[in-house]
Amino acid sequence: MKVLVFGSLNIDHVYQVPHFLRPGETMDSLAYSRNAGGKGLNQAIALARAGMDTAFAGAIGQDGLFLRQLLEDTGVDTARVQVLDSPTGHAIIQVEAGGGNAILLLGGANRCITPEMAAHALEGLCPGDWVLLQNEISCGYEILRMAKQRGLSVALNPSPASPELAAWPLDTVDLLLLNEVEGNDLTGCTEPQAILDGLMQRYPQTAVVLTLGADGAYYRDAQQQLYHPAVPVTAVDTTAAGDTFTGYFLAAWLPGGDAAHALRLAAHAAALAVTRPGAGASIPEAEEAAAFMDRTSKNGDCDQ
Ligand code: RIB
Repeated sequence: MKVLVFGSLNIDHVYQVPHFLRPGETMDSLAYSRNAGGKGLNQAIALARAGMDTAFAGAIGQDGLFLRQLLEDTGVDTARVQVLDSPTGHAIIQVEAGGGNAILLLGGANRCITPEMAAHALEGLCPGDWVLLQNEISCGYEILRMAKQRGLSVALNPSPASPELAAWPLDTVDLLLLNEVEGNDLTGCTEPQAILDGLMQRYPQTAVVLTLGADGAYYRDAQQQLYHPAVPVTAVDTTAAGDTFTGYFLAAWLPGGDAAHALRLAAHAAALAVTRPGAGASIPEAEEAAAFMDRTSKNGDCDQ
């Protein structure tokens, strides 16, 4: 079994700010860094660091070759990463004291993916393999349909939320990983339990992971509902915490379907990620996440 992450590769321009910019305001930032990011890249790094056989499909420009190199150095198969005559996607990220962020995207090469490129990238995958998708590239709808036509399993992180997602065949998704905002978009509900109930009514065949940031995360399928609290840490930068959670959850859940273990490991990996600056660079290695979990987890902290 392998996981193909079909997703975004971004150059993250990160500004440390006293507070998020208000409309019309001009403000000095406190620090700047240029990092590897993109939800696709971050989730692929998390998967690979968690031990999953991981491949990547996506697009960059000449200015983004270092992103492909980082994936390769992390053990991700990058044969399906195309270098296009377009600038690499980028993100302008404000990080405030306490680690909260605000992100502005420009899709660049991420938005140049065509149905032909998608079909080509899915070649060689077999039933039993998984595709992990987000919503930062063009042709997500087509990729989902083509993956299912090939008999592949699909995990979808519908982030960032957009109105187009309502038209996607979400009932065919095997695992949906989303936060409260995305859950609200899909169900119209605001309370976590109502979001979970609404998603199960609409997509009864789909397993759901609902992440709530500092309020923990739920897993729900037709048989069970589980909850794991967030692991308390001092946050430096929450960028890619959700991506870390997604990659670690999937890598831990896929082999045996142990959702309680996967929630616990993902919560610990994501907690470590928020204690460090940056996106891809903040994602822990498997040994580190496991050791952190051993130190902090108590038996029975995963409630039915
Ligand atoms: O989820 C965090 C990521 O969102 C950042 O790395 C940025 O590139 C955007 O894709």
